[in-house]
Amino acid sequence: MTMRLLWWMCSLTHFVSLVSADSDCIGTWCDTCLPVTIHDAPGVGFDLTPLYGTAVVIYYNGTVVEVAKIPGNPEYLELMARLATSQPVLQSTRNFMHELPSYIVEYLFPSVSSPWRDWWRWMNMKLGRPIKADSVEIISDLLQELKIATEKAISQPLDRVAVSEPGFQSLSPAMVNAALRVLGLRTWLHDSVYYPSRLVEGDAVYAANGYGLCINYRDRFQCADEFANSPAPTVFVVSYHRNLLYTSIMDYATSEAFPYVSRLEAQLVDYELGLDNLLENDQDQTAFWGRLRSQLQILPRESEYTITDILLAGESVTHPRFLASLRESMSEISLGPATAKIQLAIDPTFAAARGAALYARRRQEVPSDCYEKSECEEVRLRERLHTSTPEELR
Ligand SMILES: *[C@@H]1O[C@H](CO)[C@@H](O)[C@H](O)[C@H]1NC(C)=O
Repeated sequence: MTMRLLWWMCSLTHFVSLVSADSDCIGTWCDTCLPVTIHDAPGVGFDLTPLYGTAVVIYYNGTVVEVAKIPGNPEYLELMARLATSQPVLQSTRNFMHELPSYIVEYLFPSVSSPWRDWWRWMNMKLGRPIKADSVEIISDLLQELKIATEKAISQPLDRVAVSEPGFQSLSPAMVNAALRVLGLRTWLHDSVYYPSRLVEGDAVYAANGYGLCINYRDRFQCADEFANSPAPTVFVVSYHRNLLYTSIMDYATSEAFPYVSRLEAQLVDYELGLDNLLENDQDQTAFWGRLRSQLQILPRESEYTITDILLAGESVTHPRFLASLRESMSEISLGPATAKIQLAIDPTFAAARGAALYARRRQEVPSDCYEKSECEEVRLRERLHTSTPEELR
């Protein structure tokens, strides 16, 4: 269904391009080949959780490096808590007016360290406006730390990255992309009509666990065809942190990873059931665990389809007590190991960033809006031979 839509968009783009100057449909051949420096570059993925950010690098040779886990500052935690619990008010003018200045500032003064930006903040302070950083700034502060850690790990400047986020409705992909632009980073999401515009944590974790990865990822349409007749999985993603629990239902149309439109169907957020709350409430343990178990059951019970897979994310999800509680609550609603196995093959703390890095690594090899000619592999083979040391690749 999605692919058909994409095909129509493709045809439409093609039609428009016949009228306008140049064609930008994926059905066309590229004029140039991707240079080795881009094609073989490491794929970098960041994950923004409500509490911290993580960075993972996947090299061309397949080596995966978990680069960094950086805690968000208090402003970041507060922002995320607000985004997690508020409903998006897209129609509201007030909200629009509130969000507008941050975008204008970001377009006018694109650098964090620019004197103009400092002046803008100084002005705001003089005018008695809250000097609190806006959402874009708060997010870019954390992204910047991830960027610095990553550049150190790969020993080269970072240019392009895929960022996954929890999928809270009020956290718009535009906000994350604006935060990346502030840092001079380009994104692998929303950069082409043929590829996803958003990478939600659940989708990234799904791919990181090895699900739905096509073999022929160099061809967007063939990649989708590989899963055309696959059963449609329904995935329950459980994210557990020190300060909150959130669960998501991902309803896939086919089992292909990195779907064009995120498959996030429903989400439950509870800021009172984090691991810290548990450890504090010594008295009330039974009540706490009882409530946790029933919260875990809500989305699977309400889901239109039976859960086929249970995936984990977040730094606290492997706490033995939590895992036991999850298993117990799932078997209570007949989702035992036989029906939906709880996956623990990769570190849940880095799972989403790993999925994002995987997506970025694959995209490095594929031009986003044209097909490479077949001789490109040979051109690059020669290019690699002439580059004797890895240092020169940089
Ligand atoms: C893969 O590449 C990275 C970066 O160049 C290097 O550090 C690592 O040792 C390589 N791993 C293998 C198995 O070749």
